[in-house]
Amino acid sequence: MMSIPQIRKAVFPVAGLGTRFLPATKAQPKEMLPVVDKPLIQYAVEEAYAAGVRQMIFVTGRHKRSIEDHFDLTWELEQALEQAGKQELLDVVRRVKPDDMDCVYVRQAQALGLGHAVMCAHRLVNGDPFAVLLADDLMIGDTPVLAQMVKQYERWRTSILAVREVPRTRRAATASSTATRSTT
Ligand code: UTP
Repeated sequence: MMSIPQIRKAVFPVAGLGTRFLPATKAQPKEMLPVVDKPLIQYAVEEAYAAGVRQMIFVTGRHKRSIEDHFDLTWELEQALEQAGKQELLDVVRRVKPDDMDCVYVRQAQALGLGHAVMCAHRLVNGDPFAVLLADDLMIGDTPVLAQMVKQYERWRTSILAVREVPRTRRAATASSTATRSTT
């Protein structure tokens, strides 16, 4: 029996303009808005990592530099925390990007839509099975949603979309957000 290729790559389209959150997103990416103590994008990356993904492919645009910086080494900060003996905080900072996780970035020069953004990652995905996560929908579950999807993918070996039913009264506001995770 042929072994099933594992999902090791995830695409994070983060090049949108975030117009629904203006003015908060005028000069900072929507995906960097914090929920409690973490930016949204970090929740999504942690969800992917927990599902076995090790290559994070970010489709970025102008004004999205802070996302790259967030997953980069913060040498001065780490040095300062180390010297101050603040080990717990140092661990918090280092956990943002575990050593066995790769982050790669590709630009979507114009915000031409979500489908176009995913296509920008076409060459990096290079025919491998991959997940797409929309970080602006925060999904929390006992078993993280992507881990559940990876399991289903291993069983059915087909494209899978995660959708969530929303009450009719909230549908207008969330209709575009119901399919927020996919594997293919
Ligand atoms: P959204 O439609 O929710 O994001 O796209 P948006 O375009 O940033 O926001 P609004 O509608 O103007 O408020 C879902 C995801 O797809 C990305 C967004 O960054 C978001 O994470 N996206 C969207 C792109 O990467 N490129 C695009 O051209 C459009």
